Amino acid sequence: YRASLLYFAEPANGESGQAVFEEDGLLVVGPDEQGSQRVQALGSYQKLSAGYAGVDTEHLPGRIIAPGFVDMHIHYPQLDVIGSPAEGLLPWLENYTFPHEKRFSAPEYSAQVATFFIAELLRNGVTTALAFATSHPESVNALLGEAQKNQLRLIGGKVLMDQNSPDGVRDQTEQSLVDTEALINQWHGVDRLGYAITPRFVPSCSAAQLQGAGELAAKYPDVWIQSHVAENKDEIAWARRLYPQARSYLSVYEQFGLLRPRAVYAHCIHINDEDRALMLGTGAAAAVCPTSNLFLGSGFFDYAGADEVGFLYGQASDVGGGTSFSPFHTMLAAYYVGREGQTKPGLSLKPQQLWWQHTAGAARALGLAGVVGNLQPGCEADFVVLNPKATPLLARKTAQAGSLDELLFALIVLGDDRVIEKTVISQALAT
Ligand code: GUN
Ligand code: FE
Repeated sequence: YRASLLYFAEPANGESGQAVFEEDGLLVVGPDEQGSQRVQALGSYQKLSAGYAGVDTEHLPGRIIAPGFVDMHIHYPQLDVIGSPAEGLLPWLENYTFPHEKRFSAPEYSAQVATFFIAELLRNGVTTALAFATSHPESVNALLGEAQKNQLRLIGGKVLMDQNSPDGVRDQTEQSLVDTEALINQWHGVDRLGYAITPRFVPSCSAAQLQGAGELAAKYPDVWIQSHVAENKDEIAWARRLYPQARSYLSVYEQFGLLRPRAVYAHCIHINDEDRALMLGTGAAAAVCPTSNLFLGSGFFDYAGADEVGFLYGQASDVGGGTSFSPFHTMLAAYYVGREGQTKPGLSLKPQQLWWQHTAGAARALGLAGVVGNLQPGCEADFVVLNPKATPLLARKTAQAGSLDELLFALIVLGDDRVIEKTVISQALAT
């Protein structure tokens, strides 16, 4: 492919990757021994093209090829819950989310939503996601089956919730763990799919269920874990009532063996430095969910606090608490949060950091550095073709951009699904 290229230099010792922009670039993609498409080489068209003289080249003038986005936390069954107003998290769960998730006991309904969901990810340029299904095992089959059809790198799991949840979504302790192990064996590592052990959050899981989840996490160390922590004040107070002896909400997960590499905790808003050190020490990662946190009024992720300690984190939509599938909307909300939550005035995130946190940085937090989220040689060839002139205002704005930061900011502030001209999944051509 000949186009402008946006990618990231390999980060040295935990730093955010530096963005690289090649105005007239060449991206060479080809199959590896297993037949999956990977990046073979990339760089300046002038320098590289001679070496690939006989190779078919698709020329995309005026377009930017960039890594596919990585969404670290999303709920596929909450597609239709987007935009449901509530006085904070717990009423939102009770009045909108749980009643809606009940519908996923029907496999046809799950399949229909899964099809729409995967198409929506692709339309928005998201090529890797870590996703909640519902407590119904069939909902996982629908999601991962649809992802497999589209050759998407998707990680998903059956929600564990055996208490404080209504009939129709509440599961049973023993059966939920048996189902989880069966789903791990059925799906984890099949094609590009992964499984995530998915305790919903502390209030909805009995000690026995958390214990069982931790045992499965130890037995299957390359399976992911996904959950929620320290999102909302009422939620935290509830967790504290359930575990009055625990040092913190996060430490409850530690107690059950649920903090380790490939464990991803959504939100991590109301945490302290001891919690941050625990994240770092265990290798767990945070999924920052800025549109969700703004919509539900949950609070502001502390970027400065996170960076001081240096634990892993990346960006996520958290649809349907989140308001958009679009990584541009998430990055813009992250920018607002970075300013709002700041204790030192004048600082927020730079556009290159925001973009990295939704691509290569998120991939690293998932344990998939060098696999997805970047265009370095060896990466799987999941990428987006961006049209920086997709709308009249964007065309004006990007034409005036005098630096890479100005170009990326124009896209983040004014961009949405219209900028994503094409999403290319390793091998198959989609949308
Ligand atoms: N905590 C427990 N369940 C959920 C959920 O579905 N969404 C959000 N945002 N927080 C949760
Ligand atoms: Fe969530």
